[in-house]
Amino acid sequence: MRHFIRVSLAVLPLATAAPYSLNPRDGKPGCTSLSFGDFSWTIQDFTYNAAYHFTNPAHQVSSGSVKFNLTNPALPETVVCTADSTWLTDFFYGNINYDCKAAAGSTTKTSFAFSRPSGQLNVNQTWTCHDEDPQYPVTFRGYGTVNLTLDCKESNYQNPDWHQGETYSLRTITCSPVTLSLKPHDKTAVA
Ligand SMILES: *[C@@H]1O[C@H](CO)[C@@H](O)[C@H](O)[C@H]1NC(C)=O
Ligand SMILES: *[C@@H]1O[C@H](CO)[C@@H](O)[C@H](O)[C@H]1NC(C)=O
Ligand SMILES: *[C@@H]1O[C@H](CO)[C@@H](O)[C@H](O)[C@H]1NC(C)=O
Repeated sequence: MRHFIRVSLAVLPLATAAPYSLNPRDGKPGCTSLSFGDFSWTIQDFTYNAAYHFTNPAHQVSSGSVKFNLTNPALPETVVCTADSTWLTDFFYGNINYDCKAAAGSTTKTSFAFSRPSGQLNVNQTWTCHDEDPQYPVTFRGYGTVNLTLDCKESNYQNPDWHQGETYSLRTITCSPVTLSLKPHDKTAVA
């Protein structure tokens, strides 16, 4: 059966999703025991940036962005998490779950929420291991939360001689990247 699927995939258009049990990205050797074990994710280079840009005294074009990479010790892939928001004035309030991007073909699902006022970062991830008995994959779901303390710099520019079409003022907030490990406070496995 495995052999048959592999052969037919080669002649099918890419749009036909691969059955997930054949995905080589789903876990590395030891995936199941690493997932059951003393497990934590690595949040790599979490950054928050914001720019408050006034094009005239009454009109602003402002936005904030968050980005980080997440690695799971049981998986070979890096998940890329990014979000942009124009919701004044802190942009992120912890009330929206943003989806992260996994490698093409991956079945790993990751989402996060971030609150700029409290610094709270929530992460959810669902991943599947096939290393023990490929016929009975184990799917894990983890949920973790951490309050980040960000080290941010602010700069302010005010145009001293503003004319229409120029920047009237620009305030930027740039935070140093933070890397940390995050242990899920909740982890479940479904065989
Ligand atoms: C995040 O992961 C992506 C994909 O693996 C990589 O291209 C990028 O350089 C990584 N970024 C950081 C900050 O590590
Ligand atoms: C994570 O999952 C929990 C439980 O299902 C849910 O309440 C929460 O909104 C999710 N958070 C994120 C960031 O996806
Ligand atoms: C994180 O911050 C939130 C909101 O301020 C607070 O309710 C929570 O107790 C904090 N959690 C931890 C682990 O410090």
